[in-house]
Amino acid sequence: MTAEIINGKAFAEGLRERVAAAVPEFHSASGRAPGLAVVLVGEDPASQVYVRSKGKATVAAGMQSIEHRLPPSVSQDELIALVAALNADDMVDGILVQLPLPPQIDEKAVIAAIDPAKDVDGFHVVNAGRLAVGEDALVPCTPLGCLMLLKDKLGDLSGLDAVVIGRSNIVGKPMAQLLIKESCTVTVAHSRTKDLSDVVRRADIVVAAVGRPEMVRGGWIKPGATVIDVGINRVPSTEPGKTRLVGDVAYAEAAEVAGAITPVPGGVGPMTIAVLLRNTLVAAHARLG
Ligand code: GUN
Repeated sequence: MTAEIINGKAFAEGLRERVAAAVPEFHSASGRAPGLAVVLVGEDPASQVYVRSKGKATVAAGMQSIEHRLPPSVSQDELIALVAALNADDMVDGILVQLPLPPQIDEKAVIAAIDPAKDVDGFHVVNAGRLAVGEDALVPCTPLGCLMLLKDKLGDLSGLDAVVIGRSNIVGKPMAQLLIKESCTVTVAHSRTKDLSDVVRRADIVVAAVGRPEMVRGGWIKPGATVIDVGINRVPSTEPGKTRLVGDVAYAEAAEVAGAITPVPGGVGPMTIAVLLRNTLVAAHARLG
């Protein structure tokens, strides 16, 4: 079997277009564009690239992008004071503090300072709790993007066996919650899981979010399963001095067995920003009441 390739890039472009098409209605109702504030602390090159992409995508969707860049030496109190100002700013519907933060800053304290109604990352404990009890919540962008791809491919997920590999607060745990809500039978596997290959072999849906290059082998996949690869790992390429991106799944092997699979790049990655724009529009409408 050769798997169907799930084109996350195309799906993300469609979602971005749908969000952009819905912005004028918000504008008419509120007299302003939805606003997304992104806070970048320090000069981490990867974070700078992400923040630039988020800003561009926000403007392309017809929204207002508000960028704050703070020096790596900024104190936790100064950062929290900025978050408080953004909470109080009526033009700001969404607040995203780019992670990771420098060591002098407690990420949990900063996330806790964000107004849950503006928490477009869905990282605040109030949003995590709402998701866990099945209330309306702002949901973390990457797992919500994975769920959209799964539903687009499979339709009703009810009764399917799903394995989520990884238990992070950003991907693994919210992914499991979303799949439970869809009536899947969910197993959360992680670095201490025994016989991981056997656990994966039972799954109709595999979501890999461990951050270990090509850890999930083709032989572990149940024939016909749907494989969602959240990993983005940079590894040395065969060309000396060059690198390439690989996922957490050994793609070539898995594509021989799976029914459908997301590639890396071009799978889950582009969904994150598209869902961020969607979450910003959702937050903006909710604030209008
Ligand atoms: N750093 C890497 N991914 C993310 C994300 O989704 N949100 C935030 N705030 N920081 C990140």
